[in-house]
Amino acid sequence: MKVNKKESIYQALIEGEAKPFLKEPFQGLYLLPSSIDLVGLELELSDLEKREYVLRDFLEETNLNGKDLLSTFDFIFIDSPPSLSLITVNILCASQGVVIPLQCEYYALEGLSLLVKTVRGIKEAFNPELRLFGMVLMMYDPRNRLTHEVAEEVKKHFKWIVFETVIPRSVKVSEAQSFGKPILDYEPNHKVSEAFRKLAEEFLGRL
Ligand SMILES: Nc1ncnc2c1ncn2[C@@H]1O[C@H](COP(=O)(O)OP(=O)(O)OP(=O)(O)O)[C@@H](O)[C@H]1O
Ligand SMILES: [Mg+2]
Repeated sequence: MKVNKKESIYQALIEGEAKPFLKEPFQGLYLLPSSIDLVGLELELSDLEKREYVLRDFLEETNLNGKDLLSTFDFIFIDSPPSLSLITVNILCASQGVVIPLQCEYYALEGLSLLVKTVRGIKEAFNPELRLFGMVLMMYDPRNRLTHEVAEEVKKHFKWIVFETVIPRSVKVSEAQSFGKPILDYEPNHKVSEAFRKLAEEFLGRL
């Protein structure tokens, strides 16, 4: 998706003004996309006194069309980079819960315990409200032995938080992306779309 620099999260954090825009055709879904400038944000944040809380303060203090951001939306989902950086710390400090999407591959397992430890560490040091909300097995391919092994291993260690719904692997996902569309819009009745809807229900059921 082509991002107008003025409508990016970087600009929003720097200027303290949010301009999320409505994503057609989904009623009620607003986006505030990332942009390449975020690479520089890391450095810009590192000198600030309350550098862990820049995103949290932004979310708490920003108005959108005269109403504050937090009461405008039922949910705010923040897509995080996979690595632990000051940006990730900001996201964890601004959040109430963490959902971890997990690719059914071995290397994904390796980082998982570290990530869970990090979430606990942030909870203790910065954000007591933070909760590990769930893990989702992504790119699930029942014909692949590795998928079963990874799923079993994850459930062995984190049984109580793994969502029952798995997201199947399908080329339709990258196909939809190549058209710049979410899979739910591109093929609403596809098994991946059905899985995402089921996941949303399961998510709501855990609130
Ligand atoms: N269910 C799926 N089936 C097949 N391919 C998928 C599926 N989900 C995602 N992909 C493909 O995997 C790639 C990465 O997906 P995505 O961007 O969602 O992952 P990510 O973990 O957020 O990556 P990044 O770390 O770069 O942010 C994309 O090319 C996408 O098309
Ligand atoms: Mg990503």
